[in-house]
Amino acid sequence: MSTIEENVILITGGTSGIGASTALHFAHAGASVLALGLDAQGLHAPRHPRIQCLELDVCDSAKLSQTIAELPQLDALVNAAGISRHAQEYQPEAFLQVIHTNLTAVMQASMAAAPHLLQRQGCIVNVASMYSYFGSKDRPAYSASKGGIVQLTRSLAQTWAHEGVRVNAVAPGWIATPLSEGLMADPKASAGILSRTPMQRWGHASEVAAVIGFLCSPAASFVNGAVIPVDGGYLTV
Ligand code: NAI
Repeated sequence: MSTIEENVILITGGTSGIGASTALHFAHAGASVLALGLDAQGLHAPRHPRIQCLELDVCDSAKLSQTIAELPQLDALVNAAGISRHAQEYQPEAFLQVIHTNLTAVMQASMAAAPHLLQRQGCIVNVASMYSYFGSKDRPAYSASKGGIVQLTRSLAQTWAHEGVRVNAVAPGWIATPLSEGLMADPKASAGILSRTPMQRWGHASEVAAVIGFLCSPAASFVNGAVIPVDGGYLTV
């Protein structure tokens, strides 16, 4: 079994929020990290000598597949890139863009990563959501994409399991990131979220990163096809 220092981790959406925090989690543990995303040199991008940030649109399917295929080694793929377009998602173009970014690109990244992961007995962790469980009239494409992520995770968990590649997901609740800062700044929306969250606070991106780290670790060697809520109990209410 390889040590964490020998591992290479690829994180889509690694340039902000949960993905950036996950990149730092792995880098602090000693792994080498490639963080793909938009605004790769921006304010939210993680800074660490073992993290390389690369500007790449996951909807550029050819570039995504080529970039992954050309990696010399890959031990874990974390699919964290995600967007919401809110009510615009009722328009066909925005609907397709959200589905492509949040779901189709996850399949494409996973297929491109598979040869590497088979070689290294690696793993994939996808980022689902509480909208994997609930519908949302405010963001129908986001909710559909996150519902799809759960079934994609369960399907791919069967695909390579006999060859030692595990596929799992985390389902974050309300986490303080650039994606959610509009909601956090809205006192009414924020109060509604906090009153329904048994732990009565927003989660930290590092708390999601820690569970992703666990799922990629030898401690999770028999965990496959699982979707782990990281939501302060939101789903229990
Ligand atoms: P964020 O906005 O801070 O980060 C999103 C990341 O995705 C950024 O690195 C961005 O560059 C990347 N990205 C977006 N479109 C892309 C594209 N076309 N190509 C490449 N990269 C792209 O958001 P956050 O909150 O960190 O979200 C990360 C994941 O967690 C997403 O999948 C989101 O749906 C999920 N999530 C977030 C929750 C929250 O409360 N913040 C709750 C549940 C799930």
